[in-house]
Amino acid sequence: MKNFKNSLFCAIDFRNPKDAHKLIYKVKNYIDGIKVGLEFFVANGPDSVTELKRYNLPIFLDLKLHDIPNTVYKSVNSVLKIKPEILSVHISGGKRMLRKISNIKHRPKIVGVSMLTSLDKDDLKEIGIRLNPRNFVKRLTKIALESKLDGIVCSALEAKIIKLMCPRNFLIITPGIRFGNEEMADQKRVSTPKQAIKNGASIIVVGRSITSSKDPENMAKLIKKTIE
Ligand code: C5P
Repeated sequence: MKNFKNSLFCAIDFRNPKDAHKLIYKVKNYIDGIKVGLEFFVANGPDSVTELKRYNLPIFLDLKLHDIPNTVYKSVNSVLKIKPEILSVHISGGKRMLRKISNIKHRPKIVGVSMLTSLDKDDLKEIGIRLNPRNFVKRLTKIALESKLDGIVCSALEAKIIKLMCPRNFLIITPGIRFGNEEMADQKRVSTPKQAIKNGASIIVVGRSITSSKDPENMAKLIKKTIE
């Protein structure tokens, strides 16, 4: 299995596969992987993900599965035929769910989503969680480790502390990346690519900073250069 280090994955959040292919074609020489999220998957289905394999880049299937153990177990089994390198589930689905899927044979690397980068401490409070983001993410990391997951998805702001808790090969994937003065849009806990890698991220996920850029190719090239 590839050892991901200083890697840039581009989030191809498009509904139309033509747009996704057009974009990937432009940036494929500067990225280390493709992140496929719900927008693309729900609109186009599993075969459209398999088609992305033609670029010979690792696929991170970011489905963020979150359900009862049996349902997630069966869904992960259905994902096996797509053969993504990485698949995401929500850690808050609980240890029983996580353990059931981490025991599946010939599975992709499974990473646990901790706290979404679109949330902040006030959002946690609103859903009844009294921990601050740092302690909440630490707690979820402990659960991910105890459940034998392969990595975690978190904000770069917490990557440093997580790095200290985890074995070297544990993946730390950080979305919520903004390169310059682009719009924050729905993201709240953001970081620059350089800072994310410095803090210990193995993979940074960048979507709109590349996909909405006037020159996606150059943007991907620039981001890759800053993290190398
Ligand atoms: O466009 P932007 O760079 O903000 O996109 C970030 C991508 O990472 C989106 O596809 C989003 O679904 C995903 N993501 C995230 N926060 C997480 C996990 C995944 O933004 N905690």
